Amino acid sequence: MISLAPDSTIELPNWCRNLPAVDVTTRLPALAAIAAAVLATENRKECNMNTASGFDSRIFGFGMPRLVMGTGARNQLAEHAQAFGQRACVVSDPGVAAQPQFHELLQSLQAAGLQVTTYTEVLPDPPLRIVEDCAQVARTCEADLIVGVGGGSALDVAKIAAVLKQHEVPIESMFGTDQTPGRGIPTILLPTTAGTGSEVTPIAVLSDEAHDLKRGIVSDDLLADYALVDPELCLTLPPAPTAYTGMDTLTHAIEAYTNKFAVPLIDAFALEAVRLVATCLSRAVHHGDDRDARYGMSLASLLGGLCLKSVNTAAVHALAYPLGGRFHVPHGVANSLLLPHVMRFNAPVAADRYATIGEVMGSTDCVAAVEALSADVGTDKRMREFGVEQQHISEMATAAMEVQRLLKNNPREVTLPDAQAIYEQAW
Ligand SMILES: NC(=O)c1ccc[n+]([C@@H]2O[C@H](COP(=O)([O-])OP(=O)(O)OC[C@H]3O[C@@H](n4cnc5c(N)ncnc54)[C@H](O)[C@@H]3O)[C@@H](O)[C@H]2O)c1
Ligand SMILES: [Fe+2]
Repeated sequence: MISLAPDSTIELPNWCRNLPAVDVTTRLPALAAIAAAVLATENRKECNMNTASGFDSRIFGFGMPRLVMGTGARNQLAEHAQAFGQRACVVSDPGVAAQPQFHELLQSLQAAGLQVTTYTEVLPDPPLRIVEDCAQVARTCEADLIVGVGGGSALDVAKIAAVLKQHEVPIESMFGTDQTPGRGIPTILLPTTAGTGSEVTPIAVLSDEAHDLKRGIVSDDLLADYALVDPELCLTLPPAPTAYTGMDTLTHAIEAYTNKFAVPLIDAFALEAVRLVATCLSRAVHHGDDRDARYGMSLASLLGGLCLKSVNTAAVHALAYPLGGRFHVPHGVANSLLLPHVMRFNAPVAADRYATIGEVMGSTDCVAAVEALSADVGTDKRMREFGVEQQHISEMATAAMEVQRLLKNNPREVTLPDAQAIYEQAW
């Protein structure tokens, strides 16, 4: 357990200020060591590794794309793209494609001699037909590589379209874990939200409209060849999506840290992500041009994404799937409105870990701290505000119970009546 003195303040560490872009892939062990050192030095009194999960003898793996993180990282796009071929298919959504920075990225590719084809029709919570359309565009232009520019929706479509360009299989055959037929063409991902962390995850989440549910494809084949994380790409993100994508990051970190399968390396990433969100999210929402806050949030999102391969999320995300798939509640909003209720449900079995999260957020009550942050940034919503009727709860709970891929990670077993009760509280 980590204890902070009552008058502790939480500040951005010096290493996450407005640093120039550097290739940190080879420095990841150093990053982990720094994060661990931050934890170790903050009045750490006790180390109880058995609180949530008992992971004393746990084996875990780790992997990630080559990563360039920092202000100006986007300027390396053309250089890395050239190494993969001559024809680039750039995948995005209409909101991102309308931004001047998107056109600058296209121009940089063209100036480097690449033939550029765009697919900018990605929808939030992307349905399968969007992925098929995108893959068809990539095939028609004989793309050598796919560049994804956008939030989690565009990046997830880019990952799957890259696989489909190489292997013509039904998308449905890839749902679940390790069901992909192999790697696709190379991908370079540039996130414009902070966020899903999708740029570094082996995951894509799509809307299975036939079942009114979001479903995940999880495979190392989806790990990008490059993630270029440039906080300046988030400067145009309006306050509302800044808030709800930031709450998604917080949920990734909390669900990883309190996970039944938590492991020490990921704990370090998760707690640092919580700390950065607590410090930076409100500033990024209320002062969108605060570059330090945008940097902190992009780093938090990246760290949250790094939690997803080895550990992944749990009941909040499982219960959020029907809200996104059927009622089109934005992913971060769905997580945000469920998070405090799931935390209260889990608290009896993970009290020490929740206490540590509270301390990192500067509070003795982590649920109250999460609720206060959510109210501050305007994501303290209720399900009924999104067209969900109380009579829908029963079938939503049944649908959520199918997401055992994530529910199995929850520190406390979630039964069907538990899922219904959590939805009732969030309704
Ligand atoms: N692959 C993963 O590991 C992973 C993890 C978590 C969530 N997800 C999935 O990611 C999706 C959500 O992604 P998201 O929350 O990033 O939102 P999003 O990609 O759906 O984008 C939300 C909105 O923000 C706009 N936008 C994005 N960046 C902008 C910018 N810089 N300026 C102006 N507008 C901008 C977009 O046009 C869009 O309208 C969901 O489908 C979710 O399930 C994936
Ligand atoms: Fe998420």
